[in-house]
Amino acid sequence: MTAPRPPRAAPARGKTTQRLPDRPDRTVRGRPDKPRLQPQPTTLWDYPSRTYGRGGQGDDRFRGATPAWLIWDVVTRFVREGGLVVDPFCGSGTTLDVCKELNRTAMGFDVHPVRDDVKNADARSLPLRNGVADLVFMDPPYADNLSYSDDPRCLGKLPAKDQRFDRALDLCFAEAHRVLKPEGVIALYICDVYHHPSGFYPIGFRAFELLRKRFLPIDIAAVVRHNASLEQPSHREAATRQSFMLRGFNYLFLLRKHRA
Ligand SMILES: C[S@@+](CC[C@H](N)C(=O)[O-])C[C@H]1O[C@@H](n2cnc3c(N)ncnc32)[C@H](O)[C@@H]1O
Repeated sequence: MTAPRPPRAAPARGKTTQRLPDRPDRTVRGRPDKPRLQPQPTTLWDYPSRTYGRGGQGDDRFRGATPAWLIWDVVTRFVREGGLVVDPFCGSGTTLDVCKELNRTAMGFDVHPVRDDVKNADARSLPLRNGVADLVFMDPPYADNLSYSDDPRCLGKLPAKDQRFDRALDLCFAEAHRVLKPEGVIALYICDVYHHPSGFYPIGFRAFELLRKRFLPIDIAAVVRHNASLEQPSHREAATRQSFMLRGFNYLFLLRKHRA
């Protein structure tokens, strides 16, 4: 005799039914594809992988490569086809690859270019005319959290506690302002810094204050970080034991240049 089935639990009052995420599409070889890319509907941005579709945007091996889906969202929102996107901290070129797929023109600069289509230039002095860009997307070093190169112009040489980092960022924002068209958009992707045991450095808020001197805020999103180091048991245990928090999100600051 089979045991009687337990009655199905009634949904809790006042709670909406939970929606399951879309089932990922399958590729021809049977490997699950990444979820469909859609503009993020809230100010909490999340996506399970750095790249989207079949990948190939920027280089996963580049430490500090920017999430491609985030650039896809910002470019889709703010730049028409044919518009110009400038990335002054271009690194592995994620912005260039995303813009190519989206039929936007992109120019990338870096003090330590790692590919031929990224030009050698300092973000504080770009070889561009005034008022040409529709969007400046920037993912600069978060003070000295990572070592990118030995180039003395690299902002990654400046510690978070040092006001010289803020002054350098401010010059980058001034340069972005110069190259943007009136009403053009600046998107800054940045993370605060926590150094154990010296403490917390809110470089995100500091950068936002600097941006507000020149631009009008559009919005701020918190972007979930999926960095492998966040999953390392030793890092998580240290955070719990020593009562500090690992950086779980980045800021995405979106602002607009004033009308001329
Ligand atoms: C967070 S990474 C950018 C990642 C890039 N968006 C990608 O997806 O690969 C920061 C980059 O800024 C560059 N950089 C640092 N200081 C710079 C400066 N003063 N001007 C231009 N690039 C700079 C570094 O060489 C590094 O490639």
